[in-house]
Amino acid sequence: MNLVIIGAQWGDEGKGKIVDYLAEDADTVIRFSGGANAGHTIVHNDITYKLHLVPSGIIYPEKTVYMGTAMVIDLESLFNELDTLEKQGIEWKGRLFISDRAHIVFPSYKQKDIEMEKTRRNPIGTTGRGIGVAYALKSYREGIRIGDIFDKAIYNILRPDEKEYVDKYKDLLEKMVVNLADIMAKEKNKRKLFEGAQGALLDPDIGTYPYVSSGSSSAVGACTGGAIGPLDIDRILGVFKAYNTRVGNGPFPTEFNNETEGELENTIRETGREYGVTTGRPRRIGYLDLVALKYVCAMNSINSLVLTHIDIYDDMKDLKACVAYNINGKETTSFPTSITSLENAKPVFKTFKGWGKKIGDVKEYSHLPAETKNYIEFIEKFTGVSVDIISVGYQRNATMVRKNIWTR
Ligand code: IMP
Repeated sequence: MNLVIIGAQWGDEGKGKIVDYLAEDADTVIRFSGGANAGHTIVHNDITYKLHLVPSGIIYPEKTVYMGTAMVIDLESLFNELDTLEKQGIEWKGRLFISDRAHIVFPSYKQKDIEMEKTRRNPIGTTGRGIGVAYALKSYREGIRIGDIFDKAIYNILRPDEKEYVDKYKDLLEKMVVNLADIMAKEKNKRKLFEGAQGALLDPDIGTYPYVSSGSSSAVGACTGGAIGPLDIDRILGVFKAYNTRVGNGPFPTEFNNETEGELENTIRETGREYGVTTGRPRRIGYLDLVALKYVCAMNSINSLVLTHIDIYDDMKDLKACVAYNINGKETTSFPTSITSLENAKPVFKTFKGWGKKIGDVKEYSHLPAETKNYIEFIEKFTGVSVDIISVGYQRNATMVRKNIWTR
């Protein structure tokens, strides 16, 4: 049984917490794309774990986790992250493996990433982790895959600085590098979770190009990145927040207006801890964009939505969600390709009554206030997809599951 979990907005939707929660019933977790630009926060037993590269299933001592084929891996960051996890009591040796086809991010890529941003026609606000350079070199057929460093012929043509870099980690890596395709074929009947990074709107093909990342953050990426075929996917979960956020540049139709919604923005930023896990940058915030969410659901065959951060709205009198765009006087529910159209899109809002009480302790959907259920049920009607999991806090147990996710 294969479950795919992707972000359904511009990243930072709370995927880490949801993967950690669902990992309890999984045999393995496979992170399929992205690199150290990602940041997943998991809170368990009052300990906060911040992950960038390591799959979120790592917190469970008995689970095996894999770093997938479509990942780009900064070895120094990886081993620093593993050191931190070890200090937090997480033993990873013998249960964290890496696809031999994943690409290496060399230190020079980070410098190049920052230099390229300076001369870009449209600066995108990159995290500067060398991710774009690694994927560009992969497409240019100049990248180095992790498995390649054990191939003498390829190792011999590495530049001296590259050799020096990989030599530091070669012994450790030798025990970690695997042929993921073989393993996935053998583990066909196991319960597997395929964990995406970033969000579908940051995917280079279906996102708000050029203001996107460079790895595949859509559901199809789980196949090439996780070494399974498309027909092997049993369920696709799209994680979204009750509002939208974005870090870096690019269009954001529902973004709060500083003059009218500045105070609300600050409240949400502080209660929702809306700062980038990787760069610490404050995230841009806005109301939920249902036009974008519906587009993402359709483009990714999402058949279960996972709503997070709904508790951040607890104190609000009323709240809004965008149900259409007005672009140059014309109303539309079609998500535009043109960045200019998206920048000019004025959101058409529907207002919802707030619930005005804390919902962090609610354990069952039926016990949620009528106003919360009304908001959720409107989202389901608008997108045509059921909201099957609802997260009302950071802790693992602050999660409501409305149906068995491990079914087709
Ligand atoms: P890059 O992938 O670091 O080059 O960044 C490209 C764009 O994607 C920038 O706007 C980043 O802020 C954004 N981005 C990359 N990774 C994440 C993430 O994990 N969460 C949110 N935004 C991200």
